[in-house]
Amino acid sequence: MSEAEQIYFNPWDETFRANPYPYYKPLMSGPPRLLKVFLPMALVARYSDCAAVLRDHEHFSSVPPRSPFLEERISVFGDAPRVVFSDPPVHTRLRRLVSRAFTPRRIRELEGKVREFTDLLLDRVINKDRIDVMADLANPLPVMVIAHMLGVPTGHYAMFKQWSDTVIESDNTPPGMPLPENVRDAFTTLREYFIAEIEKRRRDPGDDLVSVLVAAHEDSEEVLSEAELVAFVVLLLLAGNETTTNLIGNGMLALMRNPEQLERLRREPELMRSAIEEMLRYDGPVQATMRYIREGVEIGESKIPAGTLIFVLLAAADRDPAAFAAPETFDITRAPNEHLAFGQGIHYCIGAPLARMEGSIAISALLARYPNIRAAAQEAPLKYKGSFFLRGLASLPIAVS
Ligand code: HEM
Repeated sequence: MSEAEQIYFNPWDETFRANPYPYYKPLMSGPPRLLKVFLPMALVARYSDCAAVLRDHEHFSSVPPRSPFLEERISVFGDAPRVVFSDPPVHTRLRRLVSRAFTPRRIRELEGKVREFTDLLLDRVINKDRIDVMADLANPLPVMVIAHMLGVPTGHYAMFKQWSDTVIESDNTPPGMPLPENVRDAFTTLREYFIAEIEKRRRDPGDDLVSVLVAAHEDSEEVLSEAELVAFVVLLLLAGNETTTNLIGNGMLALMRNPEQLERLRREPELMRSAIEEMLRYDGPVQATMRYIREGVEIGESKIPAGTLIFVLLAAADRDPAAFAAPETFDITRAPNEHLAFGQGIHYCIGAPLARMEGSIAISALLARYPNIRAAAQEAPLKYKGSFFLRGLASLPIAVS
């Protein structure tokens, strides 16, 4: 069998999504491969190639080309430029404005709230000897935190989560297929909800993130337009939610599958910081991001023709033996650990400090409450949710005492 035949890449295949890592391995031994799944795409997997693409925003654009497939999926943001899908100078301006909402002080102030939400959630299951890490903690916690940041009433949290899940599920629809009606409806409702919230905050500002962004909107020199503001708030809800959920879920799964690491973390809780980095490297919540090229470019030794979608496989790069010793080993003491889970370059994740803080509080709380944690007996194998890009477990039952 030729090398090309050994390569299999299909994010819409459930088996592939359940464990994409073996499929990344053949990609690691050479330059980016060109494939046509539904569209021509280049699979960039080696650490050095991924980092080079992410750092070179002049050749590798984050602005999706006009194509019905891509546009329908990002129409949830409306027509405004979005920080994650923009290039300089638009990106520079948007990033400067939205960074105001993510100062170290704001993140520090949230810490107490994250602990409070975590305790509240774990108190709800206090007498149980079997809990679901996803349903009981990892799913609700990040949405509560984001909703709190945005100043949204507690009563709306469940509705938020539902919109966000529906939008993320849209990854499940293969190109060429129209988005289901409920997904389109969720796009519209979500945007309309935030348009109304922004209006409220303009009339009656508070100390929440929407009010800070509205102020950024009203400062005279540099402004976020109304549509940009809505687009950013929607992006935050999506970017900050499912990702952090999957850090907690994938991270706990890695600990359960490596009980000696779990026990070591219990004995030496000061390792939590490097343990979180290893969870991000070993089974990152964002498997891949995309870039677009206007003209032909070279990556590694491969010539990539114009019009090819660039799949930057962050999770593959993070298991590249050229960048990490024993990359298949989950080692909570790994140092250095320069993983790409939060990206690199100008689009480096704005929420990274918040995600690290939430992940570490949630996992520390589980270990502190339960001296014994084991995988719960279950009939079916673990199931993953629909999205390949934001990959995570549907449920993770554990037996606790
Ligand atoms: C473990 C959790 C998270 C992971 C793994 C993650 C991952 C990423 C990655 C890989 C990018 C870069 C995308 C690219 O270059 O195309 C990114 C960007 C971004 N993330 Fe996160 N993220 C996480 C949590 C969060 C949170 C909690 C927030 C906000 C509350 C957030 C907000 C953003 C924003 C706004 C951007 C765009 C930045 C820009 O384009 O300049 N993320 N994230």
